[in-house]
Amino acid sequence: MCGIVGYVGNNAVKDVLLEGLQRLEYRGYDSSGMAFVGAHQTQVYRACGKLDNLRKILENAHTESSFQGIGHIRWATHGAATESNAHPHRSTDGKISLVHNGIIENYQALKEELQAQGFCFQSQTDTETAVYLIEREYQKYQSLEKAVIAAVQYLKGAFAFCIMHQDEPDKIIAVRKNAPLVIGLGKNGNMVASDIPALIGFVDRIVYLQDNEFAVLHQKDVSFYDFDGHSLLKSPEPLALEAEQISKGHYAHYMLKEIHEQPDILRRLLSFYMPDGQNICLNGIDAKKMLRNIEQIEIVACGTSYNAGLAAKNVIEKLTDIPVRVEAASEYIYQKQLTNAQTLVLGISQSGETADTITALKQARLKNAQILVLTNREDSSIVQCADAILPLKAGIEVSVAATKSYTAQLVVLYLFAFKLAEVLGVANAETNYLKHALFELPVQMEQVLSAEKALEEVSALYASYSDFVFIGRGISYAGVLEGALKLKEISYINANAYMAGELKHGPIALIDENMPCVAILIKNSSTFDKIISNCEEIKARHGKLIGLVSDETYQNKLFDNLIRIPNVCEELSPLLTAPVLQLLAYHIALKLGREVDKPRNLAKSVTVE
Ligand code: AGP
Repeated sequence: MCGIVGYVGNNAVKDVLLEGLQRLEYRGYDSSGMAFVGAHQTQVYRACGKLDNLRKILENAHTESSFQGIGHIRWATHGAATESNAHPHRSTDGKISLVHNGIIENYQALKEELQAQGFCFQSQTDTETAVYLIEREYQKYQSLEKAVIAAVQYLKGAFAFCIMHQDEPDKIIAVRKNAPLVIGLGKNGNMVASDIPALIGFVDRIVYLQDNEFAVLHQKDVSFYDFDGHSLLKSPEPLALEAEQISKGHYAHYMLKEIHEQPDILRRLLSFYMPDGQNICLNGIDAKKMLRNIEQIEIVACGTSYNAGLAAKNVIEKLTDIPVRVEAASEYIYQKQLTNAQTLVLGISQSGETADTITALKQARLKNAQILVLTNREDSSIVQCADAILPLKAGIEVSVAATKSYTAQLVVLYLFAFKLAEVLGVANAETNYLKHALFELPVQMEQVLSAEKALEEVSALYASYSDFVFIGRGISYAGVLEGALKLKEISYINANAYMAGELKHGPIALIDENMPCVAILIKNSSTFDKIISNCEEIKARHGKLIGLVSDETYQNKLFDNLIRIPNVCEELSPLLTAPVLQLLAYHIALKLGREVDKPRNLAKSVTVE
C-alpha cells in the first residue's frame, strides 16, 4: 500500500509525477503529496484525500524551474489521513525530502532515540523517523549516499524510499527493502516507481531493484549499490507495455472493462497452457517431478484469491483424492502448520505483493514444502518465494475490486487439477470431459456478459437495500463468498455469504421482507433440489429471492428475479456465475454513486500484514 514515484529529467516534472501517481492510485488514496527540488529551495505540496485535491493545489504551483521531484499516494497505516501525516516528509532543516512505502517496525524506539537527540516530530507516521535518521547521518557524512547507507542499518521492517537533498541537485536516491520498487531509464530522464504502470510512456527500459539495494538516479544515468555501498551491475530490460494497456478504453470504469475482458483472458490462458488443445503444459514445470510425490495440498491466499482457492479445493479433491486445505494467509501464519516436505503449497496472489501471503509462503518454505505460485505479476515480490510460477496472464488489473484475475485464477487452478490427476494416473473420463468443456466457457461467458442490460435492471431494484444474503453449496459456496465480497467492497452494502444448508442453523433469523437473497442453482448438481428447498424457506419468511439458475427448463414460480446462465457443469460454473455477480455488484454500486474503481478504505496491493 502507498505508492511512490520519482523523476529526474527534462520533461515537466509536475506532470510526470501526477500521471505516475494517478496510475498508482490503486495503492491508496488517503492523501498525496510531492516535493520538487529547484535551484534554491525545495517546494512541498500535500493534500488529504484523492489525488485530485493535490492536482488542484498544484495548479498554482510554480515548479517549472525544477528538474526533479518525488511523489506519494498514501494508504494510512500510522496516523490518520491528515495533511501533517501526508508525505513527503522533510528534515528539520527542510533540505531532505522523502517518500515512503512500507512500515518501519521499530519506529517507536527510533523515535524516542531521535527525540532525545532533539528532533521534533510533526506527524504520527513511522516515516518521519527515517527522514530524521538520514538528516542525523548527513550531518556526519555530508553525502546523501553515505547518510542513506548509514540510516538504513537502523531500520527494521519494509521500506521503499525516494529521497532528495536540496544541496545535491540532479539526484534521487531510491531504496528498497521488502517493498517493491522499479527503476525506469528513458531518453528524457530517469524515473522510479512502486509499480510499472507509473513508468509507461516515460521510460523505455526498466530495472527491478532487489531487497537491500539502492539506486542513485541522475538525469543522464543511474547507478546501483547494495546497502554496504558496493556498486552493482544491472542489465535493464525493455519496458514492453503501452499506455493503452492501462487505459479504460470506452468503458466508464476499469472494473467494467476488466469484467468484459474475461472471455478473451480465458482464451489466452487456454492457448498458453494447452497450446495443442490436448496436453496441459504448466509453464515449463516438470510436473512429474514436482507433483508425483505430494500427499497434501495447502492453498494460502487472501480475499478474492482465497475464494478462488476454495473453489479449486472442490475440484482438486474430486479429481485427485489429494486432501486440500485452504487457509487465509493471515491465519496460516499464526496457526500450527501441518506443512511438510510432501506438501505442495499453492500461493495465489493477483498482485504478488500481498504481505500475508508472502510471509505464509516463507514459513512453508521453512517446512520444506514445494511452493507453486499463481500470480498475475511475474515481476512481483512473491516470485522470490516460489519453486515455480503459474502466470495468470490477465493483464494489469487496475480496479481495486478483483474481477478478471479471479476467473483467471479459476482457470489456472482447473488446469492444475487436471494435470495433477494425469500425473498421479487418476485422470478419468470426467477429467477429460472437464478439460474439453473448458473450451466452451469463453463463448458462454460472452453470452452472460451480453445480458448486462437485464442485470442492470435487476440491480436497480435492489440498490436501496442495506443488507444482502448470498447462498450456495459446494463449489457455489465459494462462488457466493466472492459475490458477497464484490458487493460489499464496492457498494458498502452489508453482504454475507452462507452455505445454503447452514441457513436454518442461525442465519435464517435475518430473513424478512427487507433481505434480498442471492442463490446459485446449477442443473444436475446433487444439491439443486436442496437449494430450491432452502429458497422456499426464505420465501416463506418473505425474503426477496434472486436466483442464478443454469437450468433452461426450470419453470420459475419461486424467484422474484431469475437470472438464467448457460448450461454448465457444476465444477466449471463459477466461471459463469462470477461475471453475473460482478455485474450486479458493479451496477448496484453505480446506482449508489460509489467510487467503483477506488472503494473507500481499500488498496489493491495489501503490502502490510
Ligand atoms: C478483491 O476484490 C480485493 N481487492 C482483495 O480481497 C484481494 O483479492 C486481496 O487483497 C488479495 O490480493 P492479491 O490477490 O493481490 O494477493
